Amino acid sequence: MNWAKIVLIVAAAALVFAIVWASVPLSGAAEPVQAFPERWSQSGHADTTSVSFTYWDDDDPPVIPVGCAQCHSLYGYLDYLGLNDRTPGQVDAPAHIGSVIYCYACHNEVAQSRTSVVFPGGAEITGLGWDSACISCHYGRASTVSVNQATEGIGVDEINEDLTFINVHYGIAAATQMGSDAAIGYQYDGKDYVGRYLHVPDFVTCIDCHDAHTTAITVNDCAPCHANVVVYDDIYDIRELTTDFDGDGNVTKGILAEIQVFHDTLFEAILAYAEEIVEVPLVYGDSFPYWFFVDEDADGEPDPAELTFANRYRSWTPRLLRAAYNYHFVSQDPGAFTHNPQYALQLLYDSMEDLAERVTVDMEAFTRP
Ligand code: HEC
Ligand code: HEC
Ligand code: HEC
Ligand code: HEC
Ligand code: HEC
Repeated sequence: MNWAKIVLIVAAAALVFAIVWASVPLSGAAEPVQAFPERWSQSGHADTTSVSFTYWDDDDPPVIPVGCAQCHSLYGYLDYLGLNDRTPGQVDAPAHIGSVIYCYACHNEVAQSRTSVVFPGGAEITGLGWDSACISCHYGRASTVSVNQATEGIGVDEINEDLTFINVHYGIAAATQMGSDAAIGYQYDGKDYVGRYLHVPDFVTCIDCHDAHTTAITVNDCAPCHANVVVYDDIYDIRELTTDFDGDGNVTKGILAEIQVFHDTLFEAILAYAEEIVEVPLVYGDSFPYWFFVDEDADGEPDPAELTFANRYRSWTPRLLRAAYNYHFVSQDPGAFTHNPQYALQLLYDSMEDLAERVTVDMEAFTRP
């Protein structure tokens, strides 16, 4: 290495240090400052190639619309926070493409001092800390309110061609965690739902469990209380609740496994209702808008070629839409078993119970939390 290179590297390091020093209060930071960009660069937040940040690149004009920019753009998020003379709590203008979730998204005076967040559907959750930054991007885009609005005035088993599937969206951890405090899951009339999952005092907020920069979970943090946890995948076997929700006699398997039994049984019930009551079978596929007419070529299998937008399911009834909404809600939060296991079980149970008014659902052994 020659001197010019060394000088350049030292200068670059000094610059990074100076920028971070100026923008971040460093008191108490035990790590060298370079560790933060390094850790952040391992996260999805820094992934310039992700569809989350490139989806709009080929649009004309290439901007991220107001409805999407809050969570898919640094500039949109700053706009939502109300920086640069924008209105706080909404996105005023479409945002430039080409950004990811850079440091400044979370390290600015508003993101660091906000204490409340208004969720889709209107619920305001107060008493928050820096996790409010995570929550505003991870709370989904629909709610009990929007599902009720879409289905209002339509008979519960009436097929309505104007109904379309309502996708709660992705990475919805905060929606699950807040439970009925935010009501982002579809909550049936007359049922009670748990509120925010408070877990244990030091492991409540997003950044108690997730590293704010890598976004990863450190399982060594969990092991002191959850004795089963030795390697990473053991988190899926954590079990504390002692009710036998699925009635199989096993109360030591992971709470995730109980949720999966409810989720699978709800899926069977959805298929049965579509087939027997709507008389238009449907299939669930891993691409937007997720529910499709099954089997256009009648070969007995849903083929990848059939999972197209043109082939999207269009025979929704309010009852089917609500159940499908909750099924997809739980699919879209792979951390639901930690974020709020009882809320997930309640949503799934109530959707099954509602479908069971019209079709046979194998849930006699099940217990609602
Ligand atoms: C998604 C939000 C987010 C992003 C993006 C982010 N940080 Fe942080 N950062 C936090 C939070 C929250 C903390 C508080 C400490 C914790 O709990 O980990 C923090 C803490 C820090 C600290 C420790 C000092 C302190 O105030 O506690 C430094 C230094 C830091 N970040 C630098 C950076 C740099 C540099 C980047 C960009 C490369 C970055 N951060 C990106 C959320 C973020
Ligand atoms: C401005 C919006 C925004 C903020 C703020 C934000 N996220 Fe994200 N988050 C996203 C997006 C968009 C993705 C998907 C990234 C991708 O596709 O690569 C994501 C992905 C994730 C993932 C999935 C794993 C990964 O790395 O891809 C986790 C976990 C996560 N975020 C946690 C957090 C936490 C914890 C915070 C707060 C410290 C936070 N997020 C703040 C928008 C945000
Ligand atoms: C409230 C925040 C929020 C808003 C608003 C939002 N998104 Fe997202 N979106 C996310 C998060 C968070 C993820 C990433 C989840 C993950 O990968 O863990 C995501 C992921 C995506 C993905 C990738 C999906 C996949 O299968 O990986 C697409 C495409 C997308 N969003 C499109 C949109 C569009 C289009 C809009 C506007 C109509 C929009 N989003 C509005 C938060 C939001
Ligand atoms: C008690 C610990 C805990 C808390 C609190 C917590 N999470 Fe999680 N989170 C997890 C675990 C465990 C997973 C599953 C990780 C896995 O499967 O690898 C997870 C998964 C996720 C995922 C999906 C990651 C992926 O790979 O798709 C996102 C996004 C996420 N959490 C964001 C958040 C946000 C935002 C908050 C705050 C509202 C939060 N989490 C609060 C433990 C927690
Ligand atoms: C200080 C002790 C403690 C730590 C640390 C801790 N937990 Fe917990 N956890 C508990 C307790 C106590 C419960 C039961 C809470 C309840 O049901 O109200 C629980 C419940 C859970 C559950 C739900 C289990 C069930 O059957 O309902 C999961 C999943 C979980 N924790 C995951 C984690 C993960 C992942 C971590 C590490 C990031 C972690 N916990 C760290 C004490 C802890």
